[in-house]
Amino acid sequence: MCGIIGYLGDREATPILMESLKRLEYRGYDSAGVAVLELARPGEEAHTTLTKSEKKVDTLISKLQANMPTGHLGIGHTRWATHGKPTYINAHPHTDCHGKIFVVHNGIIENFAELKAELQAKGHNFTSDTDTEVVPHLIEANYKGDFLAAVRAALKRIHGAYALAMFSTDDPELLIGARLNAPLVVGLGDHEYYIASDITAIIPYTKRVLVLGEGEVAAVTPLGATVSTLDGITVQPKLIHVDWDVSQAQKSGFAHFMLKEIHETPEAVANAVRGRLTDDGIVSFREFDVDDEKLRSYNEVLLLGMGTSRHAAMVGEFLVEDWAGIPARAEDASEFRYRRPTFGPKTLAVVLTQSGETADTLVGLHRAKERGALTVAVTNVFASSAARDADGAIYLHSGPEIGVASTKTLAAHMVSLSLLALRLATVNGRISLERRHELVAALRALPDQIRELVDREPEIAKLAKRYSRYRNFMYFGRGLSYPVALEGALKLKEISYVHAEGTTGGELKHGPIALLDKEFPVIAICTASSTKDKMVSNVYEIAARDAPVLALVTAGDHSLDGVAKDVFEMPAAEESMAAILNTVALQLFAYHVAVELGQDVDQPRNLAKSVTVE
Ligand code: F6R
Repeated sequence: MCGIIGYLGDREATPILMESLKRLEYRGYDSAGVAVLELARPGEEAHTTLTKSEKKVDTLISKLQANMPTGHLGIGHTRWATHGKPTYINAHPHTDCHGKIFVVHNGIIENFAELKAELQAKGHNFTSDTDTEVVPHLIEANYKGDFLAAVRAALKRIHGAYALAMFSTDDPELLIGARLNAPLVVGLGDHEYYIASDITAIIPYTKRVLVLGEGEVAAVTPLGATVSTLDGITVQPKLIHVDWDVSQAQKSGFAHFMLKEIHETPEAVANAVRGRLTDDGIVSFREFDVDDEKLRSYNEVLLLGMGTSRHAAMVGEFLVEDWAGIPARAEDASEFRYRRPTFGPKTLAVVLTQSGETADTLVGLHRAKERGALTVAVTNVFASSAARDADGAIYLHSGPEIGVASTKTLAAHMVSLSLLALRLATVNGRISLERRHELVAALRALPDQIRELVDREPEIAKLAKRYSRYRNFMYFGRGLSYPVALEGALKLKEISYVHAEGTTGGELKHGPIALLDKEFPVIAICTASSTKDKMVSNVYEIAARDAPVLALVTAGDHSLDGVAKDVFEMPAAEESMAAILNTVALQLFAYHVAVELGQDVDQPRNLAKSVTVE
C-alpha cells in the first residue's frame, strides 16, 4: 500500500527521498511524488517544488534528476490508489489553495466527502479526486499563525485512518507526522530526522526509531522530535533499536527479493526457534510470558489472519488440536470481524500477521480483546500495531520481507505455531517426553532440510518451465497439506496471474474434479502422513481423467511412479515439518512459473505488501 517518507536535516533532502521511495516500492503502488522546500535565496521567497509521476518511482527520479530541487526539508510518497485513479493530479503530495501546506497520506479519510463539501462551501478549491486533499485544506482553514496547532485542530475533525507527513513553506524548520490506525515511525539520525510509514525506508540511515501511538503527532525540528496528543499533551514515545541491516533489504545478487527470501528461509526458521526451546521440548516466549497455570485455563484457541497468514492460522488450528487436544479454529479475519462472536475470556486468540498492520486482522484482534480473550500477535515487525495492541507478541525475527508475496515469514509463522502448540500440549499434559524429543529433533533438523531443498531449485525450475504453459491448476492435500495446497495455489495466482485453486482430497470428488482434463494439471501433496494412502487413491482417480499430476512425495516413496506425470521427492520429515518443506517447494515452483511467464514477481499487479485498508 502507500508509502511515506519525510526528511529534515543537514543533508540535501531530494536524494534521500528518492532512495527511500525506491525502498518503499515493494509495498505495491501506482504513482509517486515528492515536495521539497527550497530555502529563500537572496531576492527570492522560500518556495516548495512539487514533482509527481503517474507512473513508477523511476519516472519520478528521472524528472527529479532533470530538475533537482535543493533543500533540507521534504516529503515523498508512493500511492496505491483508493479514491481516484492513479493519475498525475491524484498523486501525492497534496497542497492547499495557496500552495503552502504539503501533505502525504496513507489510509482512508472516511468523512472526506462531508469535509470537502464544507470546505468547498467556504471557497476552497480542490483539484484532485482524493480523500487526502481535504487535509491540507482543513489545516489551511484552521491556520492562525501556528502550523502545529492548525494540524491538531484539523486532525480532530478527521475520521478513519491516517499516517501523515506534512510541512508548511512558512515554517521551514518543522516537519510534522501524525497517525491514527495506520503505522508511522520517526527515525532519529545525527542532526537529521525521518518520518516513515515503514522502517525499511530508513534502515540505511538510522537504527533508532520512535514509534508513534494512535492519535499522536510528532513535531520534528532541527532540535529534536517531540510527540504529543491531538490535545497537545506531551507523550513519551517508545524508542526502539532496529536490528535489521541494510543488506537484508537488498537483493544481494538474487534476481528477485522473493527468490532471495525463499533462500533465507533456513535462517528465518532457525531464528524463530532460537532461545525458545530446551532439549526437553520446553518452550518459552519472552514477550508472551504467561505462566503454565494461566495458560491451562484457556479451553479454546482462535487463530486469525488474512491471505498467507490465514493459511498459517489453518496450520496452527491443526497443530493445536492434534498435539494439545484443545478445540481450535482458524478464521478469515475479514469475515470474523462482522460475525457475532461466540467466545470469551477462556479463549486464547492468536493473531497471525507478518506486517503487524493488516487492517482486517487488527480489527479481529481488537474484537477478541473486547470479548476478554487473551491475545497474542505472531508478527515479524517489532512494535507494529498488532504487537503493541495484543497482550503478548511472538516475534518471527525473519528480517525484512520485501517481496510482496510472503515466503520466509510463512515458514517462520508455521514454526512459531509449532512451538505454541507444543507449549500448550506440554502445559496440558497431552504430550509425552519422547514425542517432545522427536519434535525438538525435527525442529532442529529443519533449517538444513530446507537448505537441501532450496539447493535443488534447478530441478523445480525445470518442472515449472514445463508446467508454465498451462492456464489452470488444481492443488490438493489432506490434513496439514490442505492449507499448504491453498497456499501453493495462492502463490501461483498472485505472482503469475495463472488461475489456481486449492482443495482437499475428499472434496475433490464433490465438484472440482469436473474441471479436470489433460489441460488442467493437478499438484498433489502426497508426502508421508496418516492420510497418504487416501491421497494416492485420489491421484489414481485424477490420472484416470487424463489430468497431468505433479506429486510431492517423501524420498523413497514409489507408490505414484507411473501414475503421476511427475514425481518430486521431498526430504523425509516429521509431518508438521514436511508441511513447511512442501510450502517452500511450492513457493519455488510458483516463482519459476512467474519468471517463465515474464511477470513482475516482486511487485505483482494490484497487490500491496501490507493491506492497511479494509
Ligand atoms: C500473499 C501475501 C498476503 C498476506 C496478507 C496478510 O503472499 O503476502 O496474502 O499474507 O495480506 O498480510 P500480513 O501477514 O502482513 O497480515
